Amino acid sequence: KQKIILDCDPGHDDAIALLLAARHPGLELLAVTTVAGNQTLEKTTRNALSVCTLAHIRDVPVARGMAQPLVREARYASDIHGESGLDGPALPQPEREAVPEHAVDLIIDLVRSTDDVVLVATGPLTNVASAITREPAILSRLKGLYLMGGAIGLGNVTPAAEFNIYFDPEAAAIVFNSGCPITMIPLEVTHQALATPAILERLRSLGRPVPSFVCQLLEFFGATYRQVFGFTAPPVHDPCAVAALIDPTLVNQHSMYVAIETRGEYTLGRTVCDVYGVLGRRANACVGYGLDAPRFWELLIETLASYGEE
Ligand code: BDR
Ligand code: CA
Repeated sequence: KQKIILDCDPGHDDAIALLLAARHPGLELLAVTTVAGNQTLEKTTRNALSVCTLAHIRDVPVARGMAQPLVREARYASDIHGESGLDGPALPQPEREAVPEHAVDLIIDLVRSTDDVVLVATGPLTNVASAITREPAILSRLKGLYLMGGAIGLGNVTPAAEFNIYFDPEAAAIVFNSGCPITMIPLEVTHQALATPAILERLRSLGRPVPSFVCQLLEFFGATYRQVFGFTAPPVHDPCAVAALIDPTLVNQHSMYVAIETRGEYTLGRTVCDVYGVLGRRANACVGYGLDAPRFWELLIETLASYGEE
């Protein structure tokens, strides 16, 4: 089994990524670490704990991480994820609390003490950058970092930038310059993972609590995506990063150099992807650009359907 840590900001699609990571037989989820992003740290942490309660995930520690981006003001995504960060379905009262250890310390401890850990980041990179800065020795211990973030072309929070990178561009710059083996799952990939009415119907017809919860999440997410972006179906970004790790054949990838824009007037937070190698710099990331959507949905729905078959 591949050991992973999920660093996230739930968030509708983060919640689904968590459910996939905790249940897929190819993965062993060592910890969930939370970060401010879609909502405040308090809210994203509570949401992670609620999702664990709902899905009976009891043996995975949840640790609270960084409450603010490294240097900028936080700009939450209430327009997409609502005031709670997970609006839509009724959320259970968490049956447990976050562990006392800080997420950054937990990431460092786990990577130091465990071989071949992969970190999967589906929120802003504040925790990851903080861990690398505090303990650079984890870089040679980590097997890899899979992250949902960035775009080769158009952004979503500005014309140039994707939300996770824009929220904390300085953190992203630290991570991309660190030498850590990065697999970047950008919007080009995640915008192919659309939760169409047919997908919702497949989830609903399973008649089980966890897939029904996911269905309710996607109904809310679909409504905000329609309102804000005019999408006819919402893209489930974050599970794509988990799925790319589970089955690398799901995502076409190219190695390239990616720079993070930290100063641009219109382009702050852009992931500048040197697709043609014109800068002549060494590649620092494997960037996904295509998704086998039917097989992605098979994997995700099959895993969600297995909840309840204890
Ligand atoms: C990313 O931003 C967040 O709103 C989602 O959870 C996802 O991680 C997509 O740009
Ligand atoms: Ca997210």
